[in-house]
Amino acid sequence: MQREKVMEKIIEVKDITFSYGSKTILENASLTVFRSDFLAVVGPNGSGKSTLIKLILGLLKPQKGKILIFNTPVEAFNQWKKIGYLSQRAAFFNSHFPATVREVVGAQASAHLGFLKPMRPKDWERVEKSLEMVGLSELGNCLVGRLSGGQQQKVMLARILVAEPELLFLDEPMVGLDPESQESLYMLLEKLHKEQGLTIVMVTHDISGTVKRVNRMVCIHQNKILEHDPQLYKDKKITHSYITQLYHLH
Ligand SMILES: Nc1ncnc2c1ncn2[C@@H]1O[C@H](COP(=O)(O)OP(=O)(O)OP(=O)(O)O)[C@@H](O)[C@H]1O
Ligand SMILES: [Mg+2]
Repeated sequence: MQREKVMEKIIEVKDITFSYGSKTILENASLTVFRSDFLAVVGPNGSGKSTLIKLILGLLKPQKGKILIFNTPVEAFNQWKKIGYLSQRAAFFNSHFPATVREVVGAQASAHLGFLKPMRPKDWERVEKSLEMVGLSELGNCLVGRLSGGQQQKVMLARILVAEPELLFLDEPMVGLDPESQESLYMLLEKLHKEQGLTIVMVTHDISGTVKRVNRMVCIHQNKILEHDPQLYKDKKITHSYITQLYHLH
């Protein structure tokens, strides 16, 4: 209760029910995200993690219940600039895509300037800072379609960061990244979270990598959103019984 008094709620999912046709994904499910949370969403394949993110972003509508973002019903929310979203398997550039990494990130930085307005030096600075954050500075002049899948994933992340969001949704951002890139992405997210107070909601299957870093963890299980204390899982080896316990797959 104390926490609710001092912490600002920035997402409220209230008692929602959502089905694709006759297939129920969430039933009377609720979740509150507070400002500066680093929240992991875990659960088995097909449990509804990506669906939950799409509901919060207003891309899908629940049949029942309410969703508020920054205290506004999602259907009336219009400050999408505050929000960054990296969807599952977001990198899609074909090998002939005619733009460099720097141009793709720059296009996002200039999105708010309006048609044909030139980029200002400070916009380019933001582009360079974002490329540096994801470790792509040296590839800035490469054609984006020639990069590997993992590198393209980082370009997508740089595009999101250049807009300086307050709230970041990442749907399985570690997939396709090599161990070193995963580690540096985790470090980047921790830094953004700690130093800038960025609120992060991250869907992941990398439970062992996640529990060390997040302050909250929820699991989607049998159409409900269940909260777990990541501290309880921190020092455990990822064993079968541990996963079973976490996913409630008794
Ligand atoms: N557009 C759709 N129409 C019908 N069913 C869908 C649609 N999108 C997802 N589903 C189904 O809803 C369930 C939840 O899908 P969702 O993508 O949210 O799962 P997930 O937890 O993100 O899984 P994963 O870990 O594999 O990414 C799955 O059974 C999926 O087949
Ligand atoms: Mg998914």
